[in-house]
Amino acid sequence: MAALEIREIGDSDTNDLATLWERCGLTRPWNDPDADIAFARTNDNSTVLGGWIGDALVASAMVGHDGHRGTVYYVSVDPAHQGSGVGRTIMEAAEDWLRGRGVWKLNLMVRASNTRVIDFYRSLDYETEERANMSKWLDPARRPAQED
Ligand SMILES: CC(C)(COP(=O)(O)OP(=O)(O)OC[C@H]1O[C@@H](n2cnc3c(N)ncnc32)[C@H](O)[C@@H]1OP(=O)(O)O)[C@@H](O)C(=O)NCCC(=O)NCCS
Repeated sequence: MAALEIREIGDSDTNDLATLWERCGLTRPWNDPDADIAFARTNDNSTVLGGWIGDALVASAMVGHDGHRGTVYYVSVDPAHQGSGVGRTIMEAAEDWLRGRGVWKLNLMVRASNTRVIDFYRSLDYETEERANMSKWLDPARRPAQED
């Protein structure tokens, strides 16, 4: 793997980040990438880590905790760099970010339509837990007509 530099994304990185998520198939019509990035960067308990090879943003992981568990979203590696250890490295950085804040467990969700990524997480020692994943739109106006 070429040298990967990981750091928190800055204001000037948001367009590249949204493009990366698009290339990785992670964007959905009801999720505004700019709003999601801004919200994750608002508080001290969350951020977005980026991974650069040279000047190119090739990986990301939105990471945060809620005062109990940690989680990650938008874990992504540019298709041109997948399969060379970049995903493992950005996930390890996200785990370190959480450990550094005293968090001892990370929960993550995988969309039902993205089951192939489960093997990626398994190879990083993540386990599938039997849980019902429930949610509620606290702002019903933002509920999309269709979601997966
Ligand atoms: C999932 C993703 C981040 C993996 O990144 P990557 O850089 O290709 O992963 P790595 O090369 O670091 O692979 C790490 C390990 O996972 C395994 N792995 C990666 N993708 C895999 C897949 N689709 N199926 C099975 N194993 C996989 C690798 O074999 C490797 O195992 P090893 O270290 O024991 O050899 C990347 O494929 C991606 O961005 N996918 C599209 C976006 C996405 O679905 N994100 C997850 C949202 S929940």
